[in-house]
Amino acid sequence: MKPRCWAEFEMTAHFGMRSLTVDDVSEAYVGWLNDPQTTRYMPCVAKSGPVTIESQRDYVRWILDSEDACIMGLFRDSRLVGTSGAQRLGADSEFATIGVLIGSADDRGRGLGTAFVWGVTELLHSQLAMREVRATIAATNPASVAVFRKAGYSECGEVDGVITVRSVEGQRVEAARVGIRGWRSFRA
Ligand SMILES: CC(C)(COP(=O)(O)OP(=O)(O)OC[C@H]1O[C@@H](n2cnc3c(N)ncnc32)[C@H](O)[C@@H]1OP(=O)(O)O)[C@@H](O)C(=O)NCCC(=O)NCCS
Repeated sequence: MKPRCWAEFEMTAHFGMRSLTVDDVSEAYVGWLNDPQTTRYMPCVAKSGPVTIESQRDYVRWILDSEDACIMGLFRDSRLVGTSGAQRLGADSEFATIGVLIGSADDRGRGLGTAFVWGVTELLHSQLAMREVRATIAATNPASVAVFRKAGYSECGEVDGVITVRSVEGQRVEAARVGIRGWRSFRA
């Protein structure tokens, strides 16, 4: 069975990351996914058409049942502020892939995207034994490029305006460098 991981970290406030459940799917979360400004660099979401609470709950259920994918939520206390999906987590996968979303514009630009990408990547390397984690980013999405770079990723290619970045185990940046003062992770 796929292991479950979660983590807590301290920045200027207390944050936690854990696997999303169907009960985390709220009107606010679905609102982020239906905002074309927010999803303009997320082709899978943008192409899927309008998202409803039910369709997103089905999606989360499908991920929870999958053997090689997960979706993590970033919470400030109990409020969901972002999500990060990871795929290709099978034992024989050459590399995992991740994406990230900080849902509300009010929560962006505060270092959360960087800390979240760092944290999810750390879990994938240290707890799920993934040697390499990759992300693909539109070259026209400077915030995302900055986030992955600051979280320790390096560029390994660009095709048709899409940059591939990767994090390799053993070359990680320190938590403090991404604004995290304290970090604890768990596995069940
Ligand atoms: C991309 C995203 C996750 C970034 O999250 P965030 O919490 O705002 O990121 P952070 O605050 O950690 O860092 C943002 C960095 O991008 C930089 N940035 C933001 N807009 C920028 C721009 N237009 N040009 C250059 N840099 C920019 C910021 O300066 C900051 O870097 P700094 O700390 O060195 O100044 C968030 O904007 C988001 O969810 N966007 C919508 C979904 C999305 O595009 N996801 C990525 C798909 S690959």
